[in-house]
Amino acid sequence: MTHLDNTDATNDNLDNGEAQGTFEEAVRRSAVVETALLEQPQRFTVLTGDRPTGNLHIGHLFGSLLSRVRLQDQGVTTMLVIADYQVITDRDGVGPIKERVFSLLADYLAAGIDPQRSTIFTHSAIPALNQLMLPFLSLVTDAELRRNPTVKAELNDTDGRPMSGLMLTYPVHQAADILFCKANLVPVGRDQLPHIEQCRLIARRFDERYGRYLADQPVFPQPEALLSVGGVTILGTDGTKMSKSRGNTIELGMTPDQTAKMIKKAVTDGERHISFDPINRPAVSNLLTLTALCLDQDPRAIADEIGDQGSGALKKLLTEALNERLRLHRARRQELINDPAYLEKTLHLGNDRANSIAEETLFQVRSAMKMVY
Ligand code: TRP
Repeated sequence: MTHLDNTDATNDNLDNGEAQGTFEEAVRRSAVVETALLEQPQRFTVLTGDRPTGNLHIGHLFGSLLSRVRLQDQGVTTMLVIADYQVITDRDGVGPIKERVFSLLADYLAAGIDPQRSTIFTHSAIPALNQLMLPFLSLVTDAELRRNPTVKAELNDTDGRPMSGLMLTYPVHQAADILFCKANLVPVGRDQLPHIEQCRLIARRFDERYGRYLADQPVFPQPEALLSVGGVTILGTDGTKMSKSRGNTIELGMTPDQTAKMIKKAVTDGERHISFDPINRPAVSNLLTLTALCLDQDPRAIADEIGDQGSGALKKLLTEALNERLRLHRARRQELINDPAYLEKTLHLGNDRANSIAEETLFQVRSAMKMVY
């Protein structure tokens, strides 16, 4: 089974020892991976996913969903975790979790993820994945966990509210997500690089401390980050970072009318002439970027076309372009939401597959640890 093959196109020449790589180093490695991906997609297993904490929006579609579909269609083995256990790292309850899981699943499928080729699963349904947490936790120090920038930021954001043990250890849980299926590639933003480094350390230390299942290869590969650099950043409708809590997102499931309203109240600036200038005119440029993505055109050309017609004309163009771009996605999404039995069946298919992979990996782990009785 390809998932369990420990062949890793990238590790032979890119492994860097224990040293924490610099960002430039990560960019360089990511570029090497990009080339290898085109030449030998079958050597890669990608693991990525989302926390089911709300509905996906256009930032997710253009930022990650479409590139996942591309990887899948290129022939890369694609594993998608709906990270339900990660929801409880920083909240008191699970919220309307089932609706959110189904909403996420519907968007994955509507965007073009094929459940026959890709494996979509939920944390909570894969016991053997979660069990990897135990040996993995033995391989990290509490100082390492506290140094993790995301964990640190969370700690600072909580206003003195105590941080849960799960928050402190969630990078280790992510390592279990990645390593249970022996993924060797993880699409991440720059801020997630320390997680990948931690995951690589865990893979390496497991090999050093607990040994192997097969003599000639470590149980776990050392995954690489696929950095999303050079891609466009989409801002919220107020020109600041897109975030659900700011109410500045356009959800994929919104109606065309709701979309029109969101765009109508989008922030622009006082200048009538429309120009593409992301540094000095972030809000207007963001609307141009979005229009360009929907129409598959250059944002500068669109700005030239609109010229002195002002932001009203730009918003009208964007509304039409976005609603048209999302039309099929929304129709398919709604069809899926109306068919919970199908969504359930699809999730069961993915969970069954993830379970067989996780059970095989756990068996290898217990064998390496001499704990098979
Ligand atoms: N934390 C990711 C998110 O916020 C989801 C996720 C869970 C993930 N486990 C992962 C991503 C492992 C990459 C690797 O959406």
